[in-house]
Amino acid sequence: MERTPVGIILNGVTGRMGYRQHLVRSLLTIRDQGGVPARDGSRIWPELTLVGRDAGRLAEIAERHGLSAYTTDLDAALADDAHQIYFDAQVTAAREKAIRAAIEAGKHVYTEKPLAEDFLASLELARLAAAKGVRNGVVQDKLFLPGLRKLKRLVDGGFFGRILSVRGEFGYWVFEGDWQAAQRPSWNYRAEDGGGITLDMFPHWHYVLEQIIAPVTAVTAVTATHIPERVDENGGHYRATADDAAYGIFELAGGIVAQINSSWAVRVHRDELVEFQVDGTHGSAVAGLRDCRIQHRGTTPMPVWNPDLPVTEPFRAQWQTVPDNGEHDNAFKVQWEAFLRHVVDDEPFPWDFLAGARGVQLAEAGLRSAREGRRVTIEEIPR
Ligand SMILES: NC(=O)c1ccc[n+]([C@@H]2O[C@H](COP(=O)([O-])OP(=O)(O)OC[C@H]3O[C@@H](n4cnc5c(N)ncnc54)[C@H](O)[C@@H]3O)[C@@H](O)[C@H]2O)c1
Repeated sequence: MERTPVGIILNGVTGRMGYRQHLVRSLLTIRDQGGVPARDGSRIWPELTLVGRDAGRLAEIAERHGLSAYTTDLDAALADDAHQIYFDAQVTAAREKAIRAAIEAGKHVYTEKPLAEDFLASLELARLAAAKGVRNGVVQDKLFLPGLRKLKRLVDGGFFGRILSVRGEFGYWVFEGDWQAAQRPSWNYRAEDGGGITLDMFPHWHYVLEQIIAPVTAVTAVTATHIPERVDENGGHYRATADDAAYGIFELAGGIVAQINSSWAVRVHRDELVEFQVDGTHGSAVAGLRDCRIQHRGTTPMPVWNPDLPVTEPFRAQWQTVPDNGEHDNAFKVQWEAFLRHVVDDEPFPWDFLAGARGVQLAEAGLRSAREGRRVTIEEIPR
């Protein structure tokens, strides 16, 4: 079958996300499957150039996967007309500069979240991309996860009646790094390196709430650095300068209240690492990454508060499982396919830099709310 090659610069491919989710689970899988069908009957074929700081590690990854193109010279890669797309999965703090250069070079840009470290920089990137006329997108993977797709299906089908509230619980214990290695990179715990759970997770909560439930109009947050000292990848002790927990209340359009806890200092007593409970007048749902369970008003029990008696109902057993009703592919891959079709076939791609900027705006508002001890309203960004 005829191929439509698309040259993609992949920066940050030695990292956790860049390697596993974007290179292996998305782009190499797309190649294994013969590319993405294009409108003209050809297959969109990702031609990959790996970019990073360490030539040895790039060479090793390239060899492992039968790739030949890699370089430590981003400017040279950007200057090459064979590349149409720049993708960034670097540490957050390195992103803005590289994306600016990519836009300047006329590349379409797709990037991990958060788009930049602050809202103004994010808006500026959106403005620059629009002025240059390049396609742009930000990873919003949670939207493509089976659990959240089922939740969206329930909303679209009117299952909830009037939605009242959302409660989200995200997190797990990230080891301090002394007696067991930390399972997240140490930059996440240093504010000066772009770390912090608010900047990491509020952009996710922003698009989940906005696109599945309703737009966010205000935030009240309390943040904490519960673990003040950690041990890094080289065994060195360092001071954690960034927040490792954020307790947020999000007011949504239509009077809906969402409360989401995010923490790297919590132990999991849940079915999944993130769960959202949505309560509506006609029914409720609990959605995780994969599963979604529901309770309709007609099957809602009538608990009576009596601490003198043991629990009278098997509450968890009273929920029904929402069926898959279709195949759910890797979330990152699904969004990559959409971005490739956006570039090649001009298919719509709503998860653009402006959407990414709104996520950073919420993170910044959350941090300000915590710092100043007050509720912060979210200004609408004019298009
Ligand atoms: N969508 C998601 O669910 C999700 C999950 C985790 C992380 N992320 C985002 O992905 C990005 C990478 O996170 P990660 O967990 O893969 O981090 P990581 O530390 O594993 O990888 C970071 C990458 O950036 C490179 N890098 C490190 N320091 C650098 C520097 N000073 N200058 C330039 N490059 C540098 C590294 O070589 C590596 O390739 C972050 O922006 C993070 O917010 C997204």
